[in-house]
Amino acid sequence: MKKLKSKINSKGANVAVIGLGYVGLPLAVSFALQGFKVMGIEQNRRRKKEINQCKNYIADVSDKELSRVVKQKKLKAYDDFKCLAKADVICICVPTPLDKNKQPNISYVRSVTDQIAKYLKKDQLIILESTTYPGTTEEIILPKLQTKGMQVGKDFFLAFSPERVDPGNKQFKTKDIPKVLGGVTPQCAELAKIFYGKIISNVHVVSSPRVAEMEKLLENVFRSVNIALVNELAILCKKMDINVWEVIDAAKTKPYGFMPFYPGPGIGGHCIPLDPFYLSWRAREFDITTRFIELAGEVNEKMPEYVVQLLQDGLNQNRQSLKGAKVLVLGVAYKKDIADWRESPALKIIEILKAKGAMVSYNDPFIPKVKINGKMHTSVKLNNKALQQSDCVLIATNHSQYDYENIVNRSGLVIDTRNATANVARPSARIIKI
Ligand SMILES: NC(=O)c1ccc[n+]([C@@H]2O[C@H](COP(=O)([O-])OP(=O)(O)OC[C@H]3O[C@@H](n4cnc5c(N)ncnc54)[C@H](O)[C@@H]3O)[C@@H](O)[C@H]2O)c1
Repeated sequence: MKKLKSKINSKGANVAVIGLGYVGLPLAVSFALQGFKVMGIEQNRRRKKEINQCKNYIADVSDKELSRVVKQKKLKAYDDFKCLAKADVICICVPTPLDKNKQPNISYVRSVTDQIAKYLKKDQLIILESTTYPGTTEEIILPKLQTKGMQVGKDFFLAFSPERVDPGNKQFKTKDIPKVLGGVTPQCAELAKIFYGKIISNVHVVSSPRVAEMEKLLENVFRSVNIALVNELAILCKKMDINVWEVIDAAKTKPYGFMPFYPGPGIGGHCIPLDPFYLSWRAREFDITTRFIELAGEVNEKMPEYVVQLLQDGLNQNRQSLKGAKVLVLGVAYKKDIADWRESPALKIIEILKAKGAMVSYNDPFIPKVKINGKMHTSVKLNNKALQQSDCVLIATNHSQYDYENIVNRSGLVIDTRNATANVARPSARIIKI
């Protein structure tokens, strides 16, 4: 332990980051910038090649910084695991999706753990960062690593530390976000704390990996439940002819006891739509039904259909049917100013619209092409002609670079699911907000 501690303290420790996506690449670059030698292991050969050619594919990472650390040989990407033999600290940042039946799919975590076990050596620190259900670190990873007779807390060290990165957030980057971690033993926690302390000033240690695993899920369940609450309220407000956005703006003047959440077309990304179900799945083993999680999932998943209903009603008032109507969808990313379309509600909305016979096109400055229902779609140019020729413009994602004034004034009917048109004075189009 002493040897590893001094290696980390002197930044002489070799760091391996497995999975160079939204979570892994910013983390790898952060450690490399601090002077650590970082080996990134990425199974996607195109991504591996791009990194080694200083080509950035994650918007939250600075092109300049990536280029600098690659050129300084502080970061190198590999597509196999042999380099683990040289690693002192290993961070696992692979996906943790759900399968078709909303069951956790931790096959990525299992398979990289098998690789780590193959190369495990004395004095290695292994940290899982992927979001998962409480128990994963100690029940899945630990037994696989203990097979060589090595003892955790003495020969090797194991911890869980959830990633909290918020893609597209300009204010809070990896280094600014306090880090929570739980070690299998106090020695594991101590080493992991020193390690993260090299890039993050606020590291909060909890008593076990299970607490840290649960903590991350609490954060995501909290968001999912509160978003569902405002989504339900938005549907009620619409019926009662009350502007839900105005209601939330008023409520947030309260300086304590209230935190604003906003309605929208549904939830997307790799976290909120998926992670809560990791917990509900695990809870069933303890005969607990996590009703808040299930209910929030149900409400949020219905939002794309609700948006289509609003759109259909809007066309109806114009004596138009949805079948054959030209609908231009603005934004297919799951949230503004990012290029991530995973689980994006816009894709679900497009799928429903097409199934109902609408002629749908989309524009997204961040996503030039996207596959929906097995078919590739290409972003159309957003110009006045495209707006004027549409029977309806649907704002699914409120990218900052859109000129909402122009969008509203060149369109006949606008469905605004994000309150993006709030500041448009004297709109000429009919705007229907969620
Ligand atoms: N995206 C977010 O905002 C976010 C935030 C916090 C936590 N998380 C969690 O972090 C984890 C990773 O999410 P992400 O968004 O970075 O995913 P991602 O898909 O962007 O990146 C994962 C990377 O791992 C690679 N990979 C998969 N299997 C591999 C293997 N066997 N060996 C090497 N590389 C492999 C993939 O090719 C991909 O590049 C998930 O558990 C997610 O829930 C994500």
